[in-house]
Amino acid sequence: MSKQMSHLDNNPSTPGKFKMEKSAYAHNRLRWHSSLAKLTFWSFMFMGMILIFFFRSPSSNPLPQDPSRRSLRTYNWGGPAWEKRVRSSARIRSRHGISVLVTGAAGFVGTHVSAALKRRGDGVLGLDNFNDYYDPSLKRARQAFLERSGVFIVEGDINDSALLRKLFEVVAFTHVMHLAAQAGVRYAMENPGSYVHSNIAGFVSLLEICKSANPQPAIVWASSSSVYGLNSKVPFSEKDRTDQPASLYAATKKAGEEIAHTYNHIYGLSLTGLRFFTVYGPWGRPDMAYFFFTRDILKGKSIPIFEAANHGTVARDFTYIDDIVKGCLGALDTSEKSTGSGGKKKGAAQLRVYNLGNTWPVPVSDLVSILERLLKVNAKRKVMKLPRNGDVPFTHANISLAKRELGYKPTTDLQSGLKKFVRWYLSYYSGGKKAAG
Ligand SMILES: NC(=O)c1ccc[n+]([C@@H]2O[C@H](COP(=O)([O-])OP(=O)(O)OC[C@H]3O[C@@H](n4cnc5c(N)ncnc54)[C@H](O)[C@@H]3O)[C@@H](O)[C@H]2O)c1
Repeated sequence: MSKQMSHLDNNPSTPGKFKMEKSAYAHNRLRWHSSLAKLTFWSFMFMGMILIFFFRSPSSNPLPQDPSRRSLRTYNWGGPAWEKRVRSSARIRSRHGISVLVTGAAGFVGTHVSAALKRRGDGVLGLDNFNDYYDPSLKRARQAFLERSGVFIVEGDINDSALLRKLFEVVAFTHVMHLAAQAGVRYAMENPGSYVHSNIAGFVSLLEICKSANPQPAIVWASSSSVYGLNSKVPFSEKDRTDQPASLYAATKKAGEEIAHTYNHIYGLSLTGLRFFTVYGPWGRPDMAYFFFTRDILKGKSIPIFEAANHGTVARDFTYIDDIVKGCLGALDTSEKSTGSGGKKKGAAQLRVYNLGNTWPVPVSDLVSILERLLKVNAKRKVMKLPRNGDVPFTHANISLAKRELGYKPTTDLQSGLKKFVRWYLSYYSGGKKAAG
């Protein structure tokens, strides 16, 4: 081996040139052959890549790889008719109402929060980029549902500063409910950039506009229980450490909290972070276990039940959407005004963070048993080791702070909440619609 190495080391630094001098003709022929071989090889590689690109089954990879594809999309906005719709949707219709820009309004939580605000007579304007992380037709159906209650969702990206500036020009929002994000932990294996695009760059873009708005709105935003990462001390309390994220998603949520802190400190923005714990319910997200378990149980497909190290139980503090909505409204209603103006801080502003959970962790196998009873179908369970791709074995919220300061009090247990979810699921996916995926 070392002999070979020394032989190689002894070669002149430009071996081709060296040989050329010895036999130009032989070398040219050799080069021509090797170029042809290379050309043929690369042509095949190139054709192969094109074929893979075009014929890749959409069901095996329905998600876009390139987050910039989303930001490059252009949306139609502007014009008198559009402004009229924006104004009308954001108009306050009750005496002490607020006007709220809800980002991620076509999402699961955003839809419910928007509808609840509208029902109370608040002004609500939605913003969503309708990306295809999961079946966009579900987002369109939520949009149609909100449309019927008078909520207009502007189609656009939170990274589009010109659009955000325009929205604040048309409406003096008192509050922003920021729910737009790249959710889910596993998708980071495929598209890490989408987390940076929405959860970091997008959040900064939104805060930049809020900071310059006059008056500045108060902001409530969704963080996540995932910031507790692999903590073993339970239940998780707001005072616990959040420096062991187990996924890129968690890391970007944690970064979001730091970013919020900074904007609060420098610009006087009033900011409240909500750490949601596994939210479920009607209009839910198809990438979440309770949702795709329901779909797969009905299809007779086997479902993976993860188990932690040493056959440990994987459990989640499942929180019903109506309880989460009450927590969001509580946070909006107790938000103080931002203190800055013209991009400058005038005094200390409110900065808060709350757990919104159910305080009742349930093993995932119990979730499956409840679904079996509700669907009247036996599940094909496949017990598997929890993969190390971001899922944590256990979540459990301490909610005493939210109880005390937001009046938050969850009232729906998993059995009753899943009953409502299953009822919605069955009615949504009958009527010609097929289960996502
Ligand atoms: N559902 C849960 O269990 C849960 C748990 C913890 C935290 N959260 C957080 O709550 C928030 C809402 O979650 P969800 O379950 O409703 O998710 P969701 O994916 O259903 O909703 C998010 C919405 O934001 C939109 N969006 C994403 N990036 C955007 C961008 N750059 N510009 C404009 N719109 C964009 C998406 O199209 C989607 O409609 C997220 O911040 C999520 O991380 C949710």
